[in-house]
Amino acid sequence: MKSILENRPELEVKIGEVAEIAGYLWQRGWAERNGGNITINITEFADESIRSMAPISEPYAIGTTLPGLKGCYFFCKGTNRRMRDLARRPMDNGSVIRIADDCAHYEIIADKPVRPTSELASHLAMHEQMITSGNGYKAAIHTHPIDLIAMTHHAPFLEKDVLTRLLWSMIPETRAFCPKGLGIVPYKLPSSVELAEATVEQLREYDVVMWEKHGVCAVGPDIIEAFDQVDVLSKAAQIYLTAKSMGFTPDGMTDTQMDELKRAFNL
Ligand code: 13P
Ligand code: ZN
Repeated sequence: MKSILENRPELEVKIGEVAEIAGYLWQRGWAERNGGNITINITEFADESIRSMAPISEPYAIGTTLPGLKGCYFFCKGTNRRMRDLARRPMDNGSVIRIADDCAHYEIIADKPVRPTSELASHLAMHEQMITSGNGYKAAIHTHPIDLIAMTHHAPFLEKDVLTRLLWSMIPETRAFCPKGLGIVPYKLPSSVELAEATVEQLREYDVVMWEKHGVCAVGPDIIEAFDQVDVLSKAAQIYLTAKSMGFTPDGMTDTQMDELKRAFNL
């Protein structure tokens, strides 16, 4: 059977980016078993022939209604699929879905009937938020970074912006490349619509959201930039943890130093 990527080099590049990042997630140790998920909005590549493709699945319920997604197409990691497999064979471990006209269902159109990630409600809600805000973002990632998750096991870090300021203060690049910091979603059942709703609430203010005792979500113009935000925050967390393991709490940059950075780089 012909792949949807055939004669669509631009779409192939985007799927290649997903595969590249999936490999990094595995190498980092952030993607045990099927841990984490990636989705990208590929509506811009949906030509007439994609739009007329017959579904290869029944319509499935999203679990929520997202009117902002009318006519949209997404590439999604498959549920229970491994990042390390997505890295090598993206079209066998993920699929392209079309949002139904009622905006409450989706159907799979290519290449294989691989059911999308169990966190689809959160991913699609994030994409709807990105579309309605008009920020031009096309990618969402959810992953399980050990260092950042460990930090959510400490209640004082869950207060608004405490973790943001702590991580910013570890190395100047963190504030420079993650200028909005990170929001916190208190623990919620994985895959739930409640988790999706709480996540998009935080996305109004942040591009990165921690799920307490579970993982992190990030959005960006493409999957590389969404990954970079998590990478930068994880580096800062590593510096904190390394200092702690040497037996001291790191001083961190001062508020004056961080404000100087904000002014100098127009953050
Ligand atoms: P999926 O395999 O369904 O994508 O789930 C992985 C995960 O991290 C759930 O939070
Ligand atoms: Zn998860």
